[in-house]
Amino acid sequence: MHDFKYKGKELYCEGVRLSELAEKYGTPLFVYSYKTLIGHYKKLRDAFRSVNPLICFSLKSNSNLAIARALVDAGAGVDIVSGGEMFRALKTGCSPKKIVYASVGKTGEEIKEAIRKGILLFNVESIPELKLISSMAVKAGRSVDISLRLNPDVKPRTHKYITTANKINKFGIDKETVKWIANNSREFPNINIAGLHLHIGSQIIDSKPFIEAIKKTIGLIHYLRIAGVGLKWLNIGGGLGIIYNNEEPQTAAEYARSVLPLINKTGLNIILEPGRFIVGNAGVLLTRVIYVKDTARKRFVIVDAGMNDLIRPALYEAYHDILPAVKNRMPAAGLKAADVVGPICESSDFLGKDRRLPELLPGDLLSVMGAGAYGFSMSSNYNSRCRCAEVMVAGKKMYLVRERESYSDLIRGEHVPEFLFASGL
Ligand code: LLP
Repeated sequence: MHDFKYKGKELYCEGVRLSELAEKYGTPLFVYSYKTLIGHYKKLRDAFRSVNPLICFSLKSNSNLAIARALVDAGAGVDIVSGGEMFRALKTGCSPKKIVYASVGKTGEEIKEAIRKGILLFNVESIPELKLISSMAVKAGRSVDISLRLNPDVKPRTHKYITTANKINKFGIDKETVKWIANNSREFPNINIAGLHLHIGSQIIDSKPFIEAIKKTIGLIHYLRIAGVGLKWLNIGGGLGIIYNNEEPQTAAEYARSVLPLINKTGLNIILEPGRFIVGNAGVLLTRVIYVKDTARKRFVIVDAGMNDLIRPALYEAYHDILPAVKNRMPAAGLKAADVVGPICESSDFLGKDRRLPELLPGDLLSVMGAGAYGFSMSSNYNSRCRCAEVMVAGKKMYLVRERESYSDLIRGEHVPEFLFASGL
């Protein structure tokens, strides 16, 4: 599942001790395993080998250039949701012809730039957006390929903040409107409807909702063909769940086995846009204990990583395993239940609640597992905390792939107007 394993008392990332990384780069620190990252990409690619899919890595899950470059180098494309992500994707050397662009709120500027660069497909989420892309395509004198993102109205069992394919969600276009667009394509000059797009949510652990959603597209594909639309692509999105705790998600092979028979019926080229499945278990957040605080009711292990570094527990009550990076004092004294919390001034600033951990002392290292996806990419400077450094390990080698921010980074671009100094300092 991943390449973070104990050898003796020490937790390693591939061939490197986490404690060595903490010494060298400081904490809190995101650590990524190259082998795990590429291994997961290959698992998916191999499972879908028979249809030779385009796998567009969902950059929002982890936008570090080195992570994306590693995947692009292995043959992946990139799924983007903003002009900033397009900038990053192109920096990795990804061909624009392997970039797909979703988002309900693409701005005129972003659309213009994406047309100029010649991306593969816009995943269109509304009629007003389609009108804007069309007018900008006319202005640019270009024909633009788009996929219509279908909202298939299914209800995957996952956290309510990360489901996207329900009628009440803002994403995608309902079936009847897709049909209307196809029948009124003359209203959208310079637009070529080249595909259908689905993305039903994230951290989905069983294949049923995927199957249900794809089934819903099949009738629609048939309808669109009769309406004279020359479809080329079916993008089945991302959303594959991973193991954080004791989930039993479908494997890549099981997923492929369940959706391939349906996909094969469509005769279309397949795009996948996974994020979490590829990078989730390829990263950990390494953090150091600052204090152990016992109160009448609870023990708090206060660490130097907070919700600004990993917001998933605070935002979704997400579970991340927390392991000692060095098994110094093992359970002789028994495991103790403790909340692992950060230094931020919010009660939601926790990484784990009621975790059974060995006796811990200030300076001990903990590894928060499964932090590769939606970890650093959702981090912030809240409480004026510098964002973490990121390190990639490949075998016995380690590479700093993002420097830790400094205090001067924190105030970069801020200005205090002259008049506020009038009274002197
Ligand atoms: N495609 C589209 C259009 C998406 O919106 C997303 C994720 C993906 C692909 C990739 O989904 P994945 O394979 O990673 O499940 N911050 C949340 C997850 C939000 C997902 C947003 N969209 C979390 O930490 O759980």
